[in-house]
Amino acid sequence: MEGKKLIEVVNVSKVYRMGGNEFWALRDINLEVFEREFLAIMGPSGHGKTTLMNIIGLLDKPSTGKVFIDGVDTAKLNDDELSKLRNRKIGFVFQQYNLINRMSVLENIEVPLLLRGLSRSERVRLAIRAIEMAGGDKSWLSKKPNQLSGGQQQRVAIARAIVGDPEIILADEPTGNLDTASSKIVMQTFSRLNGIGKTIVMVTHNPEVALCSKRILYIRDGRISGDEVPDPTKCTLLK
Ligand SMILES: Nc1ncnc2c1ncn2[C@@H]1O[C@H](COP(=O)(O)OP(=O)(O)OP(=O)(O)O)[C@@H](O)[C@H]1O
Ligand SMILES: [Mg+2]
Repeated sequence: MEGKKLIEVVNVSKVYRMGGNEFWALRDINLEVFEREFLAIMGPSGHGKTTLMNIIGLLDKPSTGKVFIDGVDTAKLNDDELSKLRNRKIGFVFQQYNLINRMSVLENIEVPLLLRGLSRSERVRLAIRAIEMAGGDKSWLSKKPNQLSGGQQQRVAIARAIVGDPEIILADEPTGNLDTASSKIVMQTFSRLNGIGKTIVMVTHNPEVALCSKRILYIRDGRISGDEVPDPTKCTLLK
């Protein structure tokens, strides 16, 4: 694999302590993701996929080991520096969309831009570009998220994830609540974003979705149990 190493996870473990018990959600994970990769993470429920995504996305800290984002040792950053790095480099998409219903679609999409001191017209221009790139429509911008269907809300969530032009997109079961038609639109969008150079890491339970990625990582009992390149002819969702 050539190019820049965007994500490096070194000997990462995560332990949860409850009462007198220890539970190892991740054990000794080592993972490198290079720019322009499109990685799908699969594995049984409760085996550590979200825990790993939250650690890669700097939303949670490992109990042992290190996470480097674009070469930066994230353990050396304070909370403010972590937020800045996250805001600049990473866009998140969640299964439940995580949109704020009090705010318009436009205001939701603008959230990652708020720290950047852009003018209103510049923010609107970027939001329109993002919603169109995510397979949505600019007529949605004045609506509230709950006036849209689930598939449409997920397109808004993707627009929010990409509006700040991050290099990395992390998606935790982005098609988990969607039917086949909406899953297709989401995968087409991710595939297009990957084509223009974005690095994508996506958790999925759906083998059809995983087969349209470029690399599948399997997690079992908090460990990496497999790492393989899918046969591109098996990807039917994008056809
Ligand atoms: N805050 C926490 N405190 C204690 N245990 C936790 C905590 N968060 C997660 N766990 C445990 O860690 C394990 C891994 O959880 P995780 O959410 O990473 O699983 P997952 O692979 O994403 O599952 P799913 O496919 O159902 O989303 C689970 O057994 C879970 O109960
Ligand atoms: Mg999960």
